[in-house]
Amino acid sequence: MNCVANFFTYETTKSVVVKSWTIGVINRAVQLLIVSYFIGWVFLHEKAYQVRDTAIESSVVTKVKGFGKYANQVMDVVDYVTPPQGTSVFVIITKQIVTENQMQGFCPESEARYRCRSDSECQKLISATGSGILTGRCVKYNQTLHTCEIQGWCPAEVDTVDVPIMLEAENFTLFIKNSIRFPLFNFEKGNLLPDLTVQDIRRCHFHPISQPFCPILRLGDIVKFAGQDFTNLASTGGVVGIKIGWVCDLDQSWDRCVPSYSFTRLDSVSQKNSISRGYNFRYAKYYRHGNGTEYRTLMKAFGIRFDVLVYGNAGKFNIIPTLINAVAAFTSVGVGTVLCDIILLNFLKGAEQYKAKKFEEVTEVNLPPAVSTSPVYRSSQTLGGRSEEKQSTDSGAYSIGL
Ligand SMILES: *[C@@H]1O[C@H](CO)[C@@H](O)[C@H](O)[C@H]1NC(C)=O
Repeated sequence: MNCVANFFTYETTKSVVVKSWTIGVINRAVQLLIVSYFIGWVFLHEKAYQVRDTAIESSVVTKVKGFGKYANQVMDVVDYVTPPQGTSVFVIITKQIVTENQMQGFCPESEARYRCRSDSECQKLISATGSGILTGRCVKYNQTLHTCEIQGWCPAEVDTVDVPIMLEAENFTLFIKNSIRFPLFNFEKGNLLPDLTVQDIRRCHFHPISQPFCPILRLGDIVKFAGQDFTNLASTGGVVGIKIGWVCDLDQSWDRCVPSYSFTRLDSVSQKNSISRGYNFRYAKYYRHGNGTEYRTLMKAFGIRFDVLVYGNAGKFNIIPTLINAVAAFTSVGVGTVLCDIILLNFLKGAEQYKAKKFEEVTEVNLPPAVSTSPVYRSSQTLGGRSEEKQSTDSGAYSIGL
């Protein structure tokens, strides 16, 4: 019975009201600060009343247009864009070192570090980085030079030559079609906004201020917005990111959810190191002679790789985050008392008196001996209806009972 009686009790804290202007002003100021932080930052700025969907689903289709001139040839899209499928990652080839008529066979290496005077020098070299498998023989490369012989596609490529870049690439245009979906809200949208007319699409070029929603971008502009020099980038090659951001507040109207484009060079590390600057790759076109032997044209291509990256999140009002954050806000207002207590009990004039009022000290001597030895409720019958101090075992809260 006693246990049950002890359980069904309610404790409430006793408060000490301090009538001091200093601490009063500090208390209210701290509370105001906390309240304004929650309202201004957490609720209005960070929109803590919304549930957010960060798993954006997106598809990107690209199409490049423009004609360039390279090595006395007019280059069209099929010549300089790879891969041709219009993916979100593609390369515009701006410079090529061409090695024609390569066939399987034996021939001297072309690189200076394969220079040799005797076969034994070549036998010591480890072949892996050259143009073919080393045979271990030292053969004549030209009038003055001997190099190690290889077996592979011959003649070996000479990639130290200076070749021009296709400058017209600066004027090529890139059309981006991007559709996104926020699965949590089943919200779909694309970057071709409904107010974009066919005439607009034909004429507009993207500009962050005057044409922020035009889906046609000039390559020269993209590189410029990414803070790069086009001629430099085209000659060393590089990777440029086109970021499309969808940060949407779905509590507002459908029209307000719009893409924002930004540009950055993604391989900026390779700019600084001297070992591997820029971006290049090799590919080949294969042909067959009339007699059936195969030959190829090897291309070392330098180009600008464009990566279209889509990111985003959307928020919409929901009661659960609202409640959780509201409760957090109310509880946090109480944090102010911790600060005020520290000031009140340590730094304020008369801190000792405040301390004495706040912490009542009760010594063992003051307590009736019976209570201290048997710390349980004694029923009022055994005490004969006398007024007596009682102590509850579970809390240390004091009350005057009958
Ligand atoms: C790009 O186009 C502009 C205007 O049409 C032209 O003046 C410029 O010469 C072109 N640039 C190149 C590299 O062809």
